[in-house]
Amino acid sequence: MNKRIGILTGGGDTQPLNAVIFFLRGLLQTIGADLIGFMRGWEGILSEQCVKLNNVPDFSGIGGTILKSSRVNLANEDGFDRANRILSRLELDALVVIGGDDTLSNIYGIKTTPCIGISKTIDNDVGAFSIRSGKIQAVNYFTLGYPTAADKIARMVSLEEGLRTTAYSHERIVIVESMGMHAGWLAMASAFGNPDFILIPEFPLDYNRFCVRLKERYSKNRHAVVVVAEGAKLDEGGYMHTDPSEKDPFGHSRFGGSSRILQNKLKADLKGFMDVRNINAVNPSYFYRSGAANPTDRLGAENLSQLAFQLICGGVQDHQFAYIDYSNSVFTALNCPFSEFPQTKNGHFPKRFVNNVFYNPETYSGTKLWEEYLGPIVMFRASTVNYLLKNER
Ligand code: F6P
Repeated sequence: MNKRIGILTGGGDTQPLNAVIFFLRGLLQTIGADLIGFMRGWEGILSEQCVKLNNVPDFSGIGGTILKSSRVNLANEDGFDRANRILSRLELDALVVIGGDDTLSNIYGIKTTPCIGISKTIDNDVGAFSIRSGKIQAVNYFTLGYPTAADKIARMVSLEEGLRTTAYSHERIVIVESMGMHAGWLAMASAFGNPDFILIPEFPLDYNRFCVRLKERYSKNRHAVVVVAEGAKLDEGGYMHTDPSEKDPFGHSRFGGSSRILQNKLKADLKGFMDVRNINAVNPSYFYRSGAANPTDRLGAENLSQLAFQLICGGVQDHQFAYIDYSNSVFTALNCPFSEFPQTKNGHFPKRFVNNVFYNPETYSGTKLWEEYLGPIVMFRASTVNYLLKNER
């Protein structure tokens, strides 16, 4: 009998999701297998809303996800029982689950169908990093969507393509918000765009010290670019901005607005030092995760689809995590059983956070190792800002 494979996308959309879906479909067609797409992530399993993708037009070059998305926590109520019952009846050979840590965590409770988990999130916070003999070892070098979003933020703050020119022309402090509720990987990716300061959730901000540094920089250069993650915290450990009244099913508050909060704080505190009308906040928000995938993300999508296909052809029996590896300057895809994934805690897929291997809180910037990590992901490099500074009046 022909194989029947299910696929779903959950959590925040990212650019290469359709690429995974359609690359995989193309491979499955070569063995006459059916690909069945479930609508709105795990919700599509619970409601049995699905569509056979065999003859759907190819959207692999378009961002977002034709299958749509949702944030469903199967641990709520009888979610796991229902999902297992439905999946058992559907008799799929495998279910490909594309999502962030929350969507992937649901896989732990699925007993009736082998799942292949693929991580996607512009937050890049799924996987693990370690340093061995001064070299970065990554389980999951990047999550799908991160390379495109990382490239966008680096360009967005740069002199060549981004906000630094306006900051310079108008002698402004421009505060650019990045996504990233708990992890600062996206904000950190702005490093190749040469911002003056990067503020991330993992290192609560000593605000008074930051003000001193910012004033020093502004006195010297007459402009500054600050990148702040949406989940950044102030020195006492509280988020700059979050809205607990809009929690999702995994209990995460809605973020967004840290740049505005920091702007207002600085406007109040830098009065008399500068014209505070020239302190501005920019929040590109969903722009980071929308639009088409860049070549690195498409390559990741292709590698992961290929690996998923191999696992399916081999008759996958237990849950597997398919992830991006980077060795000898080449990106490939590898897999490991879910049960063997390092650092799994209480049935939740591991998240990873920035530590001081990659971030220097003294200078509010990335370390040499961070540049090494980012090198293969972000092609863009801002030039130095020296020519502007030399021309200062
Ligand atoms: O996908 C992760 C993420 O982009 C976070 O950085 C962000 O806070 C969140 O999703 C917001 O997504 P939504 O508004 O769609 O719930």
